[in-house]
Amino acid sequence: MRQLKHDSLDWKSYYTTHTTTARAAVRAAVQDGAHLVFGHAVAAPESIAEALFLEREHFRDLTIFHMLYFATPWHLRPEMEGHARGRLNFLDKHSRPVVREGRADFVPCHFHEVPRLFREGLYPVDIAAVQLSPPNAEGYCSLGVSCDYTKAAIEEAKVIIAEVNEQMPFIAGDNLVHVTELDYIIPVDRPLTEIPLPEIGEVEQRIGEVCAALIHDGDTLQIGIGAIPDAVLQCLGDRKDLGLHTEMFTDGVMHMMRRGVITGARKTLHPRKVVSSIVMGSRELYDFVHQHPDIELYPVDYTNDPYIIGQNEDFVSINSCLEIDLCGQVASEAIGQDQFSGTGGQVDYLRGVRRAKNGRSILAFTSTAKGGTVSRIVPTLSAGATVTSGRNEVDYIATEYGAVRLQGLTLRERALALVSIAHPDFREALLASAEERFPQ
Ligand code: COA
Repeated sequence: MRQLKHDSLDWKSYYTTHTTTARAAVRAAVQDGAHLVFGHAVAAPESIAEALFLEREHFRDLTIFHMLYFATPWHLRPEMEGHARGRLNFLDKHSRPVVREGRADFVPCHFHEVPRLFREGLYPVDIAAVQLSPPNAEGYCSLGVSCDYTKAAIEEAKVIIAEVNEQMPFIAGDNLVHVTELDYIIPVDRPLTEIPLPEIGEVEQRIGEVCAALIHDGDTLQIGIGAIPDAVLQCLGDRKDLGLHTEMFTDGVMHMMRRGVITGARKTLHPRKVVSSIVMGSRELYDFVHQHPDIELYPVDYTNDPYIIGQNEDFVSINSCLEIDLCGQVASEAIGQDQFSGTGGQVDYLRGVRRAKNGRSILAFTSTAKGGTVSRIVPTLSAGATVTSGRNEVDYIATEYGAVRLQGLTLRERALALVSIAHPDFREALLASAEERFPQ
């Protein structure tokens, strides 16, 4: 781990003398073959990525690790071939085609174990390139909207290049770094990327109602991003004292805090605090979380550690998937052999809820995809599909046709339960598969 240079008395002059431009920082710090980690999601270090692109003739064979990247992906452009290559743990619309074209690689890993890759040298961090908030009066910057693996990258890096963004909110928790730990400081004043609100259609609304029926007053929730999680939140308006211990905090959570539905009053871990590892959503959300006394961000090896999750009693996790077979094996990150996203924290939370007193996990999804032409409940997963969540990990499965609880059921009972929540157009064929495979 990095030795802290920490000199809190003279941090203002340190800030001044270490302020530079992104291009100058890249020229000074980047060596051939270096391993970089980029800040995550909305905290992507865009000016550093652009500088790497512009200075690419000065280095070769960099490796750049990140997960989601919500900014212009300069570093993934074809011109970077031979200069830098992405090593990605979660794909999005920018990186998916790049991996398909063979210009970047995918690294399987549970989200909560990403910091371990850095700490144990499985991905040695030469340079952490991050985006931070402006410092407070004591010289501490907040990691802002992304603590997740970024905190570990900062702690393990030999060199830290930091964009200090005037518009990055200051969020507390284990989410701070002192100015005197930064090697290169690049002041920027750039709006954070806003993630558009998902459209909630009738089907998502129905799934929201199905899931909401499993959630009671005083429960603590983990809730993912997307139309279904948002629909679930919208159906919880009459609940009291819900809590949040999650990996991702979105606009839907803000609305429920404002309505007094999420209070955290009955939480058994971090009572009254909303605990998350990432924030992503609208500008309104970024303003809301800025210096909010009840919101704390923690590293993902804390928020997503199954042992920590399990200390929350009455815990409910809600996530989604792409395909599930009749035994309950779940593909959440790939469609056949095509990597779509990543494991993220899905298995972390499925395992964590099992340790929680009265823990429940829900995987919720629309019963069909591609305009109703394919069933997501299938006899066997598509050829070559990655099993994200094994059949022993899953519990409640929900579609717009209801929710079934798989734990404790035989294979035949599971298959029949899943057929009962499949789209009616596919039930007959699924039932025939179930009868053939699990006769009685
Ligand atoms: N066969 C073929 N295509 C399918 C499919 C299937 N069985 N299931 C989904 N698709 C297509 C959809 O039609 C959609 O295509 P489009 O983009 O052209 O419309 C696309 O795949 C994505 O499906 P969608 O249901 O819209 O996904 P989503 O954006 O709601 O994300 C996951 C769902 C599963 C990909 C996402 O939740 C994930 O990555 N999960 C793993 C990580 C995780 O759970 N983290 C924990 C909490 S944040």
